[in-house]
Formats: sequence, structure tokens, C-alpha cells
Amino acid sequence: MYLKNLSLINFKNYEQLEIEFSQKINCFVGDNGVGKTNLLDAVYYLSFCKSRFNLIDSQNIKHDENFFVIQGNYYIRNENESVYCGIKRNKKKQFKRNKKEYKKLSDHIGLIPLVLISPYDSNLIIAGSDERRKFLNGVISQFDKQYLEDLIKYNRALSQRNSLLKNFAKTNTFNIETIEIWDEQLIKLGTSIYEKRVNFVNELMPVFQKYYEIISNGNEEVKLNFSSQLHDFDFPELLKNAIERDRILQYTTVGIHKDDLIFKLDDFLIKKNGSQGQQKTFLVALKLAQFDYMKNIYGFKPILLLDDVFDKFDLFRVKQIIKLVAENNFRQIFITDTNKDRVKNILNDSSIEYNLFNVSNDTIELSNNIKL
Ligand SMILES: Nc1ncnc2c1ncn2[C@@H]1O[C@H](COP(=O)(O)OP(=O)(O)OP(=O)(O)O)[C@@H](O)[C@H]1O
Ligand SMILES: [Mg+2]
Repeated sequence: MYLKNLSLINFKNYEQLEIEFSQKINCFVGDNGVGKTNLLDAVYYLSFCKSRFNLIDSQNIKHDENFFVIQGNYYIRNENESVYCGIKRNKKKQFKRNKKEYKKLSDHIGLIPLVLISPYDSNLIIAGSDERRKFLNGVISQFDKQYLEDLIKYNRALSQRNSLLKNFAKTNTFNIETIEIWDEQLIKLGTSIYEKRVNFVNELMPVFQKYYEIISNGNEEVKLNFSSQLHDFDFPELLKNAIERDRILQYTTVGIHKDDLIFKLDDFLIKKNGSQGQQKTFLVALKLAQFDYMKNIYGFKPILLLDDVFDKFDLFRVKQIIKLVAENNFRQIFITDTNKDRVKNILNDSSIEYNLFNVSNDTIELSNNIKL
């Protein structure tokens, strides 16, 4: 699968842009603030119906304009597919596949699998557990619609149960039977979500370790553990044991909404002890493992977007990443960097086919097209 071309009108800093891509590696080089990440975000939009960076659609319209259009032509499973996203101020988002509008945006998610590695991903390591659950949820729900539905229902039941606990406290009453109605929902949905998370992390772990070892030359040992209260107790037991505490605190203190991923480097938390380069290695390895996982599920390789990925890495790690890329593990890749010479030297060394584009304030020009 690959993106053949893209056209933009009034998307962020781009007034009008038409661009043809290489089926393999596309590098975008240019100074800070010229629109490299914005271009990747447009590609991201066509996969996820939203921006990675700004969830308010209208804020992605070029300043002082009234609409934006992103259109891309893909080649997927031996078919041509065209995807269109149009946003007008104060109007509903228009999202079309082959000129036909989707009834639900969620029907589109999963058609064009994509993995983005961006500097914003550092939140996965340094921010609270919510970010890491979002990562788990985002990846699993891309290919498992039931998981997404269960998650939505779980969150609804959780918020109902929490309101009930608050209400009991306010009115100084308590009725275990009404609580148990919500417990039943939480148990059914939560247990299934938990099992899927366990399976996913178990499959991800060895691939993640493999990638970390390759990028870091095996000098560091990393661990990725899934932590959940459900490891040690059944969900019904957890809820029963916690009810007094829940009543006092007026919210549900146990469940899969407390799950987390624990990232360790040589037995220490990477969040606290890892250098910036090590944290970034961790993220890249994690995302590449996600890529492998998705590739196996879909039966073809997702699009890979690497935004500023070489920044903070020593030359060895940069070379290892490019080596991975060159070894044909990946299909179509989009890379951004501020340092043209760095990208050129590395890619020329590895003799892979790539397109190099110069980006400068809303225009993108093909600088060279090197083919084997
Ligand atoms: N809605 C918008 N309308 C017009 N311009 C916008 C809009 N949103 C963002 N921009 C502009 O886009 C530019 C940032 O682009 P982008 O983040 O793609 O830069 P970049 O090339 O990735 O830079 P860096 O190397 O620093 O990562 C900024 O100059 C910003 O003002
Ligand atoms: Mg950028």
C-alpha cells in the first residue's frame, strides 16, 4: 500500500499544494516552521480523519480562510482509492472514499493503516498513565472495532457508577443493588478489554526488545511491562473489596482505567533515569514494534511517518534506523529533518531509493530523485 499523490488547499500554512510521492522513501528537509510536520499531519488526517496535533478541525484551516481540503490517491490491495477530507468553518466534516461520503467516520479508520513517530510522542514516556492507555487503545481499536465499542461502553458505565457514588455521598444514602448494575457492565466489558491488552502487550514485547537492541547495539536492556490490578484479582473481587474506599472517595478506584505500561531501562524507570536519546530509542522501538504488529494483522505494511526522528540520536543510532528501513522491513516512508546534508549522507550511504524534497514556506520542490 502507498500514497501516490496528495493535494492540499488552505491546510495550515499551505495555500495550494500538489505533490507526487515515491513509493518508498520521501524526505522533506527545510528550516524550522516551514511546514514539514504540517505535511505529515495532512497524511495523518487521511488515515485518522483528524489531526495528530490539533483536534479542533477548524484550527487547521489556513488563517483567514474558510475551508481546507486534503485529497490523496492511494494504491491499496491492488486497487486505486481516493480519500477526501473537507472542512468548512461551522459545517460538518466531509470525509469521502472514492467520492462517496462516509456515514460514520469510524468506518474509515483502519482502511489506511499508518504509524507516526513524532516528537510529541515523548508524552508517552513522561506524562501520566492516561497517555499510555491512549496508546494501547489507539492501536488495538484500529483493527478491533469490538474493543472500541467495549471501551466506549465501559467509560459510560464508569461515569454512571461514579455519579451514583457522588450522589450517595451527597444524600447520605447507599444502595448496593444499583451499584451492582453498573458493576456487572464494568466486569463484562473490562475483563474483555483487559484480556485484549494482555495479548497485545505480550506480542509487542519481543519485537520491541528486538528493535531496541538493534538501534542501541545491545548495550542496554529494556523492559515493557503491562501493569493492571486485574493481574492479581478477578474484577468482581476487586470491586467488592474496594467498595468502602470507593464510597469514601466517591469514585471507582479499581478497574482497567487504572492500567498502565511500565517502561524500564536496566531495571530503572526510563521516565526518571533515561537520557533523551535513550527515551527516544525507546519510543522508536515501541512504534516500530507497533508497525510490525499492524503489518501482521493487515497482511500489508502500513505507511510510516518519521517526524524529526533523527534529532537527539547519535550517528550510530541514526544509521541503525536507516539500516532497518533499508532492509525492506517497511514500505512507504515519509521522513522530515532540518538537516539536509545529514539525511543525504545517510541515505546515499545505504543506497536506497528515495525522493528528497526541499520545503520552504508553503512550497515543496523535488530536489533529486535517486533510484537504484
Ligand atoms: N492554521 C494555520 N494557518 C496558517 N499557518 C499555520 C496554521 N497552523 C500552523 N501554521 C504554521 O505552520 C508553521 C509550522 O509548520 P510545521 O510545524 O510543519 O513546521 P516544521 O517545518 O515541521 O518545523 P520544525 O522543523 O520546527 O519542526 C508555523 O509557521 C505556523 O505558523
Ligand atoms: Mg516539525
